[in-house]
Amino acid sequence: MVQLLWKNATAEVVGNEHGISQADLETIHDRLVGAHRAVMDQVQAGRLGFAKLPTRTDYAQQAKDLAAKYRPDTTDLVVLGIGGSALGNVALQAALNPSTYNLLSDSKRPGPRLYVLDNVDPSMVADVIALLGRRLKTTLVNVISKSGETAETASQFMVFRELMRKRLGEGFAKRIVATTDLHKGTLHDIAARDGYAMLEVPSDVGGRFSVLTPVGLFSAAMCGIDIDQLLAGAAAMKQRTEIHHWHQNPAAILAMVLHLAATAKGKPLHVMMPYSNRLYLLADWYRQLWAESLGKRTDRQGREVFAGATPIKALGTTDQHSQVQLYREGPNDKVVIFLEAVQHPQEVRVPDVFADVAGLGYLRKAKLSKLLGAEKQATEYALAVSKRPSLTIRFDQIVPFTVGEFIYLWEFTTAIMGELWNIDAYDQPAVELGKQAAFALMGRDGYADLAKEMKPFLRADKDYVV
Ligand code: PA5
Repeated sequence: MVQLLWKNATAEVVGNEHGISQADLETIHDRLVGAHRAVMDQVQAGRLGFAKLPTRTDYAQQAKDLAAKYRPDTTDLVVLGIGGSALGNVALQAALNPSTYNLLSDSKRPGPRLYVLDNVDPSMVADVIALLGRRLKTTLVNVISKSGETAETASQFMVFRELMRKRLGEGFAKRIVATTDLHKGTLHDIAARDGYAMLEVPSDVGGRFSVLTPVGLFSAAMCGIDIDQLLAGAAAMKQRTEIHHWHQNPAAILAMVLHLAATAKGKPLHVMMPYSNRLYLLADWYRQLWAESLGKRTDRQGREVFAGATPIKALGTTDQHSQVQLYREGPNDKVVIFLEAVQHPQEVRVPDVFADVAGLGYLRKAKLSKLLGAEKQATEYALAVSKRPSLTIRFDQIVPFTVGEFIYLWEFTTAIMGELWNIDAYDQPAVELGKQAAFALMGRDGYADLAKEMKPFLRADKDYVV
């Protein structure tokens, strides 16, 4: 089970200026209840695509069926996608399989090696192609793009399709799975023409909310992750997020604390700090969800509001030796959201050595999980005494069920935050200009005017080059 612990974000612990007080609760109460009701109305009317996913067993079944078909003769799975079409895949794999997964022998690995190519860095792409080498014949490519037009994914796809076509001949199409809109779009059209297996990105689920669709489920199923448990966890959290009484509802409390922090307490920086390497990449997934959903210039009435909070990731204990100096003594403009696990998938105990070394005796026979937990509590305490608010999300175990709970918790919290800010949490207008500008620079038809408009901004002026 996943629990939210929020005492260290209250005025009781960090004082009225920085923590949530009774007066703050009274100020936000009616808006919070209204925001929750508004989200619930959308859920009940079937207008929130992501809220339908925990009980959509058909997607899980499709992912499992296709995985069962491909797993026996697939040594390597290459996922091509970016943003919402990649971050969830990476986060699930990092949380639920060993960090050494790709290095394990075939008998120890529950599925193919996984490579998620979420960038067009030529070195990275070339490295993976070189690594695959002769194994390209037993590689499966899963190209994921809801729009089917994203330049990064499209270019990677063109590279891999051609490689596969040359190496495998006519049968190449059998080694590509396209996850996209099932009715329209460039990728859909190519997939239909070439004859790839296809999985759906539902039209009512945005990229950053799509990890529980075939976008995230297929690669997870291929790599041996129990996706039924993932959905069961999401469904369990869905029930908890629907509780009307805010003080029993973890999503309502999370939204209340983080919205007040950003708007009334001068804390627009929200740092997610897992004390677990396995949970670290969930912070990348959260960063996209929080940033793209909530960072909006205008509210629903078109008024400029510049809403949003900046999501940051840090890793405990590693960043205690890098960031915590700033978090404790720099500007008091952050809320730290710790992630912790009561039980880790593996344990290591410090051996009973150096009995004669006074400074190390306390570590003898200690479990590393105990040290990690103590370090987290130490940081939490140190922040609290410096009047820095924090929250903790506690996983009793790191298993598909709790990861599913975590994912749904943040999706629903994001929906409430959108209501509190009165913004559209499901669009990303600011990303579009960047996409179009890249088209212009790459010479895509129809973008010549934009290319001209961009010139003065991009010309290297020698007065400013040193
Ligand atoms: O959340 C989003 O909508 C974006 O991050 C998209 O996922 C990302 O831009 C990739 O888009 P697409 O899946 O259409 O290629």
